[in-house]
Amino acid sequence: MKIISSPAELKNYLVGMNQSIGFIPTMGALHEGHIALIKKAKEQNEIVVVSLFLNPTQFLKDEDLEKYPKKDEADKKICELSGVDIMFFPQVSDMYGVDEVSVLAPKIRGYVLEGESRPGHFNGVLTVVMKLLNIVKPTRAYFGKKDAQQLNLISLMVKQLFMDVEIVPVDTVREKDGLALSSRNVYLNKDERVEALKIASSLRRASAMVSKGVLNSEEITTAMRETLAPLEIFYVEVLDRQFNRLSHVEIANTVILVEVKVGTTRLLDNIWL
Ligand code: PAJ
Repeated sequence: MKIISSPAELKNYLVGMNQSIGFIPTMGALHEGHIALIKKAKEQNEIVVVSLFLNPTQFLKDEDLEKYPKKDEADKKICELSGVDIMFFPQVSDMYGVDEVSVLAPKIRGYVLEGESRPGHFNGVLTVVMKLLNIVKPTRAYFGKKDAQQLNLISLMVKQLFMDVEIVPVDTVREKDGLALSSRNVYLNKDERVEALKIASSLRRASAMVSKGVLNSEEITTAMRETLAPLEIFYVEVLDRQFNRLSHVEIANTVILVEVKVGTTRLLDNIWL
């Protein structure tokens, strides 16, 4: 596996390769969720590139940038063992200068749900993803359905800015007890880890209701809020795949999303029905 930190060097290395490139952008502290993205990219492409970059512009001032878990050496091993060909490992100064051009998230879809509690977060995400896609120029780029709004906004950016890459969504990987894997799960203490299971329980409850024919969004979100209590809830929403509110679940066109705070940790999850 080749490790490259300079954007110019990576561009030079990849230019003229004439092979399909699968790309997985990450912020490190890799887990089985990231590995699922890598596996899918390996199946579908000749070359697999993973970036590891803790992007400062997507963190708000009072957020966890400083304490975000760093596991660089373990991450390198995971990539090596997963058959990654190239790891892109830039410094902040490689990616950002002064007086920067940036991508603005759409004013509506970028400022609801996670974007409402983290205003400006998606500007940072879209800007760094745009930079990374321009450096790697992949055939396909892989994103987890766990971050459904991020996936939705990146797909929208690629479409609206006429970018030449296929965005491939990948199913959420969970622990055996249902908790969605996240680099932030390490923040949870023992009790909080138990409390966090309410997230998956609430989504299972929603799914069971839908299976029994209960399609009314309000009934579903009320039941979910009951399961989530007493956690601090940022949102529980029933949306279509374009992220419009639905009064009733539409089978094969619905995402139910939850974001809560457990202790001081913000956790999000969703199901696609
Ligand atoms: P990060 O949180 O490291 O996640 C990298 C990718 O892994 C994202 O596409 C995310 O949705 C996916 N992922 C995380 N947990 C997952 C799980 N349990 N199952 C499946 N996929 C999972 O998301 C980011 O980094 C950043 O915002 C980034 C896109 C890299 C831009 O900085």
